[in-house]
Amino acid sequence: MKQIQPLSSAKAGALTGTIRVPGDKSMSHRALMFGLLAKEETIISGMLEGEDVLDTATAVRLLGGTVKAGDDGLWRVFGTGLGQIHEPDSLLDMGNSGTAARLLMGLIAGHPVSATFIGDASLTKRPMKRVIDPLTQMGAQVLGRKGGRLPLTIQGTGAVKPVTYESPVASAQVKSAILLAGLAANGTTTVIESAPTRDHTENMLRHFGVNVTTERTEDDRWAVSVQGGQMLRGCAVDIPADPSSAAFPVVAALLCEGSALRLPRIGINPRRTGLYDTLLEMGADIAFENKRTEAGEDVADLRVTYNGPLSGIDVPPERVPSMIDEFPVLAVAASCASGTTKMTGLAELRVKESDRLAKMAQGLAACGVNLEEGEDSLIIHGTGKPPAGGTLIDTALDHRIAMSFLVLGCAANDPVEIDDAAPINTSFPGFVDLMNELGAAIGAPDQDRPSLAL
Ligand code: S3P
Repeated sequence: MKQIQPLSSAKAGALTGTIRVPGDKSMSHRALMFGLLAKEETIISGMLEGEDVLDTATAVRLLGGTVKAGDDGLWRVFGTGLGQIHEPDSLLDMGNSGTAARLLMGLIAGHPVSATFIGDASLTKRPMKRVIDPLTQMGAQVLGRKGGRLPLTIQGTGAVKPVTYESPVASAQVKSAILLAGLAANGTTTVIESAPTRDHTENMLRHFGVNVTTERTEDDRWAVSVQGGQMLRGCAVDIPADPSSAAFPVVAALLCEGSALRLPRIGINPRRTGLYDTLLEMGADIAFENKRTEAGEDVADLRVTYNGPLSGIDVPPERVPSMIDEFPVLAVAASCASGTTKMTGLAELRVKESDRLAKMAQGLAACGVNLEEGEDSLIIHGTGKPPAGGTLIDTALDHRIAMSFLVLGCAANDPVEIDDAAPINTSFPGFVDLMNELGAAIGAPDQDRPSLAL
């Protein structure tokens, strides 16, 4: 049982300095999993050592890989090779991580082994049917709870069928699960997606020596294909800092007068940077310096300077997949901006680590923000001034809800308290210390605080 960790974030002065943001979560999961499917050694630098990724490392070991974290900061994976993974002799506990559960289900689907997945109270609520449907078409068998929820058992197959699958949801996790199963198929597997989602699976598979093609279809969709039977070659993977984690100090700096931050080596894959495009349109001063490509991914050093209140905008719905994890913190920025920010096309937010649309709307309203929550939209009417704050937020085991409200506390008039900061360790270990080093005032809640209501 994890210890609950309530925290309070009080108004901060200027946030200044250089911040080392941990490694990209999506890429860290993939580096471990692809390392398992390769035969030679894979050496990973910049790995995120957050709980989600550590759960993937444990699963990779149970599936037959050797995973070692060295004193030199490098992680080494010795894989079994494609087709050779072992049947795990205990449960695969994916903790809080949907990415780990869904991608590993795809990986296992293409092997004649069975595995049972469990997770925490948040993951147990999340829909898995989106991967169960295509993986079943490919020949795997899955027995789960109602709606295909965890705990579930998957029985993979040594004769996986290649498919062409039109994904009903814009999801990199669904795309990746199918491509991973397709690696073991006899033939070509294609995923057609109507909106381009993050392409780390495609980029990293190429880095491991696999030929993956991406083509524009005649009706303007994206077709990603992989021919089964290609061997993965172990390699060196250099993981950039996570742009989704960087989003929290970036927004905090944009809300606190006098702030100036430097964030080295942030991943700026264009399918991940929708928040940054949006903040620039809202008037933020963010510079992307020393742009370069490292291990197939674009990176830059970010410089963020406070330059007055942001302005509300309409966020184009087609931008949603490239900033899917950043809406909670954008909602915080919008709450302090002048004018209205309209966010639409947000249905997927309801099935993340929590119902993020509901959690943000409830929490921000309790902090005094004027907003309208729709079925798949959030409209925030900012005044150009920080909201009142002074309330306790129910974060529902969601790391991004927790960090978003700690960021809001940096600007709000009265401290914002969260019920539990422990889930922050899933994606951003050290977040609170790093923020405090920059000038934030995050700490244990005041025992004599005024009455707070959930
Ligand atoms: C992820 C994809 C996204 C994102 C998640 C990580 C990935 O989920 O929300 O945090 O690593 O593939 P969906 O692709 O399901 O939207």
